[in-house]
Formats: sequence, C-alpha cells, structure tokens
Amino acid sequence: MTQPLNAVCLLSGGGTTLQNLIDLAERGELPLRFSRVISSRADAYGLVRAETHGIPSAVIQRKAHASWEAFNQALSDAVDAENPDLVIFAGFMSLFWPGERYIGRIMNVHPALIPAFCGKGMYGHHVHEAVIEKGVKITGATVHFVDNQYDHGPIILQEAVEVLDDDDADILAERVQAAERRIYPQAIRLFAEKRLIIQGRRVRILQS
Ligand code: GAR
Repeated sequence: MTQPLNAVCLLSGGGTTLQNLIDLAERGELPLRFSRVISSRADAYGLVRAETHGIPSAVIQRKAHASWEAFNQALSDAVDAENPDLVIFAGFMSLFWPGERYIGRIMNVHPALIPAFCGKGMYGHHVHEAVIEKGVKITGATVHFVDNQYDHGPIILQEAVEVLDDDDADILAERVQAAERRIYPQAIRLFAEKRLIIQGRRVRILQS
C-alpha cells in the first residue's frame, strides 16, 4: 500500500467529513493518518470525534485574534508544527492561506458544483437552500485544491447530483454529502499516489 500521508484536518462543525476519512483509514482503505485536528470553534463536535480516535486537537478561533492576519499566522504555525503532507479542510468555515509553500497541498470539499453556489457565506446548509431557491436541476460536490480565496483553487474531482422536485435542503444535503464521501477519499488517494498534476487552473489526473 502507498505510504500513509501525514495529514492535518481543519474543521468548524460536526465532523462527519472527518469521520468518513478516519473510518476509511482505520479500515486500511485510505493511506492517511491525522497528526492533528484543528477547529475554529471550541464547541465543534468534530473535536469529540478526534478525541475518540486518539487524534490530538487544538482550537484556534478567529475571535481570539485581533485581525484575520493574526488568526491566519496562528493557524499557519500550528499546521507547520505538524509538517503535514496534506492539509484537509472538512467543513472549515474560515479563510486560511499559509502561503505559496502550500500550493497543491491543501484540499477542500464543497457541497456544490464550483463555480456555482460558492464563495464567502456560501457554506453547509446555505448552499443547499440557495440551490433549491434558484431551481437548478443539477448540483453536486467538488473537491479542489485551496488557494487564497474561498472555494476557488483548481478543481480535482466533481460529482453531479440531481435535484428532485420534492427535495428540500435537508434531503438534498444528504445526497450531496453521500457524493462528498465518495469523491473526497478518491481525491486523497490520487494525491497519495502522486497522480494529481496542477496545470494552471486545471488538475490533470495521471493514469495508474
Ligand atoms: C460538508 O457538507 C462540506 O461540504 C461543507 O460543510 C459540511 C461539513 O460537514 N463545506 C463547505 O460548505 C465549505 N465551503 P461536517 O462538519 O459534518 O463534516
């Protein structure tokens, strides 16, 4: 099996995304080990999940810092301390950019087909509510590399999800999250196998 990646997970909420990755890794289906989980909220249930699985955690809150720059620096220092191969956003709701040395080494999953329904304020349930409100017929999930803007870096994988006539935001969220649970591990596996090549805004996937 491919050498396990040393990963840091950044989250702000319930942590079902983290849980899926932990479960796959523990079953030997994903070459990954988390050296730390960092939360931007002290009450995030994702912290409990980390503790349950023996993963060290930390809380770094925007409101505890005088500026976004100070918050970003504190996060950068905490991430650097783990010397990670990969930084994994799992429902992380703050902007974070540790600089060019992390290009191609931070991933995010977004619950829509970027560039639709993304950007500041467009996260979690708000996305599915906006999708229903607009009446679009197709939405989906996107895994992308992170850059210095919200939901903006090069796209790695996308999976489309049909919006059905009787869907509300909750039902739609469940189907989109099922897609996220497929494509996020797949993207991480491709990264571990060194098969993701960034060419400008495009990500080429090398054949195995
Ligand atoms: C996930 O659905 C993820 O796509 C979304 O937040 C949820 C986190 O759930 N992320 C974004 O909206 C990022 N812009 P979780 O806390 O249960 O993993």
